[in-house]
Amino acid sequence: MAKHLYIKTFGCQMNERDSEIIEQLLARSDYVLVSEPQTADLILINTCSIRDKAEQKVYSLLGQLAPLKKENPQLKIGVIGCVAQQEGDKICKRAPYVDMIVGTQQIYRIPSMLDRLADGQTTREIATDLEGSFIIPAFQKLLRGKPPSPAPAEFRKFVTIMQGCNNYCSYCVVPSTRGREISRPVVDIVEEVRILIEQGIKEITLLGQNVNSYGQTNAVDEHPVSFADLLYWVAEIPGLERLRFTTSNPKDLSEKLINCFAEIDILCPHFHLPVQSGSNHILQKMDRKYTRESYLEKVAALREIRPDIALATDIIVGFPGESDEDFTQTMDLLETVRFHGSFSFKYSDRPNTRSADFADKVPETVKKERLKQFQDRQDQISLEQNEKYVGTVQKVMVESGGDGKAKGRTGTNHIVHFPCSDDVHPGNTVDVQITRAGKHSLQGEKA
Ligand code: SAH
Ligand code: SF4
Ligand code: F3S
Repeated sequence: MAKHLYIKTFGCQMNERDSEIIEQLLARSDYVLVSEPQTADLILINTCSIRDKAEQKVYSLLGQLAPLKKENPQLKIGVIGCVAQQEGDKICKRAPYVDMIVGTQQIYRIPSMLDRLADGQTTREIATDLEGSFIIPAFQKLLRGKPPSPAPAEFRKFVTIMQGCNNYCSYCVVPSTRGREISRPVVDIVEEVRILIEQGIKEITLLGQNVNSYGQTNAVDEHPVSFADLLYWVAEIPGLERLRFTTSNPKDLSEKLINCFAEIDILCPHFHLPVQSGSNHILQKMDRKYTRESYLEKVAALREIRPDIALATDIIVGFPGESDEDFTQTMDLLETVRFHGSFSFKYSDRPNTRSADFADKVPETVKKERLKQFQDRQDQISLEQNEKYVGTVQKVMVESGGDGKAKGRTGTNHIVHFPCSDDVHPGNTVDVQITRAGKHSLQGEKA
């Protein structure tokens, strides 16, 4: 009989992809996904530790789930992902009803852990080793035989091309929660993309914490290829309509990769290139290994080669030691680049990071003010940038629709809403004339 699996996923797309992998692995043990925890036989919380009070959030969610365990003693609860990696068995001390703690490189073990728990061989499973090898087994299991087909409405997927990160930006938990950077073999990636296309997927986003350094840390391929080479390989696979990637550290953005935007027609004109700060003094303290000037040069090169490219970024405000002048530099960089959009955050101390010990912490009120100032200006710029699309015709890949309306996405990653008949389905590409712009989305009519 089918068992019910409920997964709650926090954090980045890598966690989302990991949750999908787990879902697919568990489908082989007769687990079906449910959307509410109440009827679940297994609850997994896939956690993120990137900012703020990540640990507390996990404990408070666990607290809410605890009564379910009283109602159903057979229910198993597992904590996985980056907080699981970071906290390990400490989680069980605060939440003794947790049955499983699984770190970022052990997720492929979940089915066998569940078997042992079900057999009564053990009462709790904890696996948080960072092995320093790619979590190949998870993928191999998936690729051996056919993985279950994506749901009919699905037409885009993430494909993880590397794990971990070696950059050790001074504020970031990822190197400690995800371990050393390892690139996945090219053949595996190409094979996974091929299978996905066979199953109807049209858009692929290649995923890693720093995709630009793909190939530099490859223990498997005899002749590792660069990220730009990988893009050419993947773009060649017949049937793929759109190719994207995320995330990129500007320090490793090569000329060859910039050229891909001119040469690979299915590579979408959208680039998420996190800058974090506009001040060289802060970039140095962050240990980002690029300068404001080199960043701006890369932006100019990208725009020259692909004038329609939409640029997005990540910003941290209130990094330790960030003066008013440093912040002004960030605002000034925003004026210079005029990003189409950005994700901006108040700096927060994280465990096992160097900046947690830096002096000159910026007061919370100042961080709040700076964040608001940045976000308000970004919103205005996003609107002005989006208004430039009004009157143009964009190719929109439909994501959802019904009742005479549809929602889709342009190559530049803008969401577009438009009226349409119900014979348009997710994954179809439609020409849409843009009629109105908002700061976060566009509206249009079928051209
Ligand atoms: N690998 C990506 C970033 C991944 S983390 C890169 O190098 O750009 C996603 C974003 O979270 C970061 O870009 C950063 O803006 C933010 N972030 C990371 N650590 C943070 C911290 N300690 N405080 C606030 N924001 C943080
Ligand atoms: Fe974190 Fe820096 Fe690695 Fe990005 S590149 S994941 S910010 S350490
Ligand atoms: Fe969060 Fe881990 Fe991703 S800390 S951002 S889930 S790599």
